[in-house]
Amino acid sequence: MVGGNRQYTDSLTLPPRGEGALNGSMGLNNTTKLTRRIVLYTGISALALTLTACSTGPQPRTPAGASSASGEATTVESPNPSGTAIGAGRTLLVYFSRAGENYYYGDRRTLEVGNTAVLAGLIADRIDCDVYEIEAADPYPEAYDPTVERNRDEADADARPAIANPLPDVSGYDTVLIGSPVWGSRAPMILSTFIEGVDLSGKTVLPFVTYAVSGMSGVDEDYRDALPDSDVRDGLAVQGEAVTDATADLEDWLRTNALL
Ligand SMILES: Cc1cc2nc3c(=O)[nH]c(=O)nc-3n(C[C@H](O)[C@H](O)[C@H](O)COP(=O)(O)O)c2cc1C
Repeated sequence: MVGGNRQYTDSLTLPPRGEGALNGSMGLNNTTKLTRRIVLYTGISALALTLTACSTGPQPRTPAGASSASGEATTVESPNPSGTAIGAGRTLLVYFSRAGENYYYGDRRTLEVGNTAVLAGLIADRIDCDVYEIEAADPYPEAYDPTVERNRDEADADARPAIANPLPDVSGYDTVLIGSPVWGSRAPMILSTFIEGVDLSGKTVLPFVTYAVSGMSGVDEDYRDALPDSDVRDGLAVQGEAVTDATADLEDWLRTNALL
């Protein structure tokens, strides 16, 4: 595990306007060419510009037969009738990130692109992969404090926030990278929605997070517990404020996992 300080609220200074706010339950306890790239990514256009190494561009596409987290059937036209993802790398990069007001070295800053999205872009620039962004059906607030409050409520309720976009067909992938911020010393609950919504058994799972002070916070251990039939590797934890300086650590981690 990289990082791994689960005592975030006990041992470290809290964000000034979020007292107690980063507390939360831990553990996911219940839980290019078209010829080369099928881009599952349907998310924000700003990030799309940074994800070009994984594809020739953001081509909104959902896999055949995919269904949304809300259980609605999704009928999509697929250029790949088998519904199996095409991609020489057989690697899928999944991430969740939130732009807007966020923690920044004890203060606040408004991010146009979330830190995890930036990290996902750095990864996508370096490896062969398809990309899927988890989008919340009920988007999180732009403001920091209400987001912290909502996350705390969701964690307390062991909620499974719905995902807006159809889940990807992961059957064609050997390796799935899963990225998120650390929220309340764990992954946001919507990551539980995701991992329970797709079948990751038999696959290699590579968790990565961005954080303010907590490090990995045991997120990779949580995935290991929740996904006993997957090979969950030690995760990569990158401080959100310094995400663009993380390329050496990132490349080491990708090499360790034979993706570079
Ligand atoms: C709701 C919420 C809870 C957070 N909880 C933690 C935490 O427990 N530990 C920590 O180090 N950072 C915490 N942070 C800071 C984020 O993990 C960090 O800023 C991250 O890089 C944000 O990534 P994003 O921009 O992709 O969402 C929290 C931020 C938010 C909005």
